Amino acid sequence: MTDAHRSDIESGLIENRTFAPSANWTSAGPGAEPVTPHIASMEQYREMYERSLSDPEGFWGDAAKELHWFAPWTKVLEWSAPDAKWFVGGKTNLSYNCIDRHIESGHGDDVAIIWEGEPMDGGPEIKRLTYRDLHTEVCKFANVLKSLGVKKGDVVTIYMPMVPELAIAVLACARIGAPHSVIFGGFSANAITDRVVDANSKVLITADGGWRRGSIVPLKENVDAACTQCDTLDHVVVVQRCGANIAWHHEPSNAHGKKRDHWWHDLMQAASADCPAEPMDAEDPLFVLYTSGTTGKPKGIMHTTGGYMVYTYLTSKYVFDLHPDANQVYWCTADIGWITGHSYIVYGVMPNRVPTLMYEGAPNHPTPDRFWSIVERHKVTQFYTAPTAIRAFMKWGDNHPRKHNLQSLRLLGTVGEPINPEAWMWYHRIIGHEKCPIVDTWWQTETAGHMITPLPAVTSTKPGSCTLPFFGVDAAIVSEDGVEQPNNTGGLLAIRKPWPGMLRGILGDRERFIETYWSRIKDASGEPYYFPGDGARRDADGFFWIMGRVDDVINVSGHRLGTMEVESALVSHEAVVEAAVVGMPHEIKGTGIAAFVTLGPGFDADEDLRTKLREHVGKEIGAIAKPDQIRFTDALPKTRSGKIMRRLLRDIAAGVEKVGDTTTLEDYTVLAKIRESKE
Ligand code: WTA
Repeated sequence: MTDAHRSDIESGLIENRTFAPSANWTSAGPGAEPVTPHIASMEQYREMYERSLSDPEGFWGDAAKELHWFAPWTKVLEWSAPDAKWFVGGKTNLSYNCIDRHIESGHGDDVAIIWEGEPMDGGPEIKRLTYRDLHTEVCKFANVLKSLGVKKGDVVTIYMPMVPELAIAVLACARIGAPHSVIFGGFSANAITDRVVDANSKVLITADGGWRRGSIVPLKENVDAACTQCDTLDHVVVVQRCGANIAWHHEPSNAHGKKRDHWWHDLMQAASADCPAEPMDAEDPLFVLYTSGTTGKPKGIMHTTGGYMVYTYLTSKYVFDLHPDANQVYWCTADIGWITGHSYIVYGVMPNRVPTLMYEGAPNHPTPDRFWSIVERHKVTQFYTAPTAIRAFMKWGDNHPRKHNLQSLRLLGTVGEPINPEAWMWYHRIIGHEKCPIVDTWWQTETAGHMITPLPAVTSTKPGSCTLPFFGVDAAIVSEDGVEQPNNTGGLLAIRKPWPGMLRGILGDRERFIETYWSRIKDASGEPYYFPGDGARRDADGFFWIMGRVDDVINVSGHRLGTMEVESALVSHEAVVEAAVVGMPHEIKGTGIAAFVTLGPGFDADEDLRTKLREHVGKEIGAIAKPDQIRFTDALPKTRSGKIMRRLLRDIAAGVEKVGDTTTLEDYTVLAKIRESKE
């Protein structure tokens, strides 16, 4: 949310309206009998919420019993901050719960995944996989992984476009207990290298390319480049998607003597479709997912099997009101490369036995109404997207959604960044026809699933507020010293009790795990609270309003980036001596990236260099990290102790006329010079 919006809300300039839930709302799809929402009254929410805090073991034990376990747990929770063990001793398998369980209950021929490719020549390419189809593919690929030497506990890296093979790959990993590390397809070769090395991964799955806005994303080429920088990878498995012209490596770069590149279809042809799901300990790792933090190095967030499964299953069920057999089609527009895709395309949704839709490409290809044509074509009932997309749709114009019949929609969701009330109202009116509840879900990579969110049939909504905590989530607004703040006073958001989906650590960095999440806020007795890194306030109704990050993480189009990561990328260019990166308000992205850069001798501060630096950052990290603004300056504003005063840079980037307190500034002339610097 921009500062302007924030202050508009606070001063009541934007209609601070409350939308009461509709009494006759049903999430059942077209033609189906109405269903009673899982949570049907505010009273029920309050009772369940109360129980979830006073008797977490009873509450979560009951939730877990809705899923399949090979062996029951002996204790629901063992907690010694910051370490949680959920469903201690229980044995389960998430791939089994996503697929096999539905075949066993007689639903093998129901649709599990609906997939639509991006190219539209001659109509869209659509695939529908039933649970039985998926079972065959997942078992075969699990056997492929085994044949490549993958064992329980080995990390498999996945760098793929949004094709069905991506879902098959993650489910195959889960089936044999090999944690996956999915890297978003928009990241660069360097980002792949860092993550492969950090996780000591030996097998990587990719594709010859992926379609995006009519062009081919050169995934295999990026993997080849990554392989020249590290020698951990033994095998690269390649899905043929685009027919792209790619190099082929018969030999591994590490001279292990194995063949390196393999076609997915060749390996699958030879694989058996028999692969029973491995009983996994509830606390066995399920996946690692890298996310940005305050240092230059992304951190591998670790999630385990049982708690993650139960938490994403239950949040999906209640927040999206998923019912099998109610003609629902659920679509989350995220990429599986992000946590939203992990939890709310695959793992949380599939155990609920509602078809999940995957779309390969861009929202505006070939025309800006692509999403709405997908909603109409597949009769989507639940639609989950990000505020940055909604702002882009607003800009493209109402005529695009209006061309399509969106009457199948029952519920709209948003995630990734605070939604500005204008975008919320547009979503409500133009997409939801003022009938669909909007669930504005606040959560993070680290939390696995929704933490603060409306429940569609019962929670009143206010544009811009993520409303009330989910079951088991003890959220509070506290001061730096852990004291709970009064209503409408800004503070740090804190979570005071463990929840099943909580991260179990950062791969290989215990210290950073403790320092980042468990050191900043403590209660009076010294017990740490979980610190998510967001600032927020709570209003008189107990509703939460997220104000944005309070650390050096910025949220660009709903994607997390560390300012330090972008700075390191900039200073790795020969022309750059020093760089400071801050967020700035951006109409579509929410937060854009502003970089202040000082150059070495002999380099000209011109347009050509600006372009080169943007390209360089794209190459180092990925296109999402390219600065929107680069300003060349002779010096950066620093305190006398040498710290860059980012606060001042943020003001300048935002175009604020009178910047904040400058009394600690070392050299006053620097500010004037930066102001004069051109964007
Ligand atoms: C922000 C994405 C306001 C927040 C699931 C959080 C939000 C970060 C919301 C996590 C929301 C996410 N309202 N802010 N509904 N959802 N955020 O790890 O700053 O990519 O800390 O997880 O996004 O980003 P991440």
